[in-house]
Amino acid sequence: MTAAARGGHGSTRPRGTLLRATCGELAPMARQAPFPTGVRRAHVAHRARVNAPRFENSVRAMTATGGDAVAMGWAATTGPDRDTARQLLETQLPRRWRHVQAVAAKAERISAAVPVDDRQVLVASAWLHDIGYSPDLVDTGFHPLDGGRWLRRAHHDDRVAALVAHHSCAWLEAEERGLDKVLTAEFAREDTPVTDALCFCDLTTGPDGQDFEVHARLAEIRSRYGAGHVVTRFIVRAEPEIVAAVQRTERRLAGTTRQPT
Ligand SMILES: [Fe+2]
Repeated sequence: MTAAARGGHGSTRPRGTLLRATCGELAPMARQAPFPTGVRRAHVAHRARVNAPRFENSVRAMTATGGDAVAMGWAATTGPDRDTARQLLETQLPRRWRHVQAVAAKAERISAAVPVDDRQVLVASAWLHDIGYSPDLVDTGFHPLDGGRWLRRAHHDDRVAALVAHHSCAWLEAEERGLDKVLTAEFAREDTPVTDALCFCDLTTGPDGQDFEVHARLAEIRSRYGAGHVVTRFIVRAEPEIVAAVQRTERRLAGTTRQPT
């Protein structure tokens, strides 16, 4: 159990505290009645497969009004996103599934590159960023847009849907495909450490999940699709933005840029 959660069970803890515990720690807590001392109200969400960011928002609202809350850990909250990606990719696109697993693992490893409150969103987006490749989801044939639309139809968190729709400079590929107005109209594009970190994870991870230096990864994409292909045209145009996003993330990880708390 985290230090915050351990401390939260004492009577001296100030009211309105957000406690954090893993799913395994929450299970026995949930069986207690009443809840542990000092925990006036608990959300035990690991059984409900809740939408993680929405759950976090409800926790924030509760603590802001002086209530206490127990928040489940990342492993529990990202489980449904991992399961969604697995169902859509593992059997039909096993190579893509290997890539996605490595991208999500990297997102967890480098999550210090984004503010604490954004880390869950980063990992969720990493799991879901390529679901638009699934034959079950193909609509326009442009995987970021198809993935974002599917997530929205599934009532997933809108920020995650938008991050998926715009991931790794997708707006530039949308221009190449004549879909830029559609993409922009349907999904707001954020420009934050999260977008940089998601791009970093995707563009330093190869199609089989292997690590790549970003320029080598871009060369791999150009070679795989071939000259003249829309993806190659996009990658050539996007290279400066992609490299800049990777370098910003590396600087944040190196601690040269302070993250807001
Ligand atoms: Fe990807």
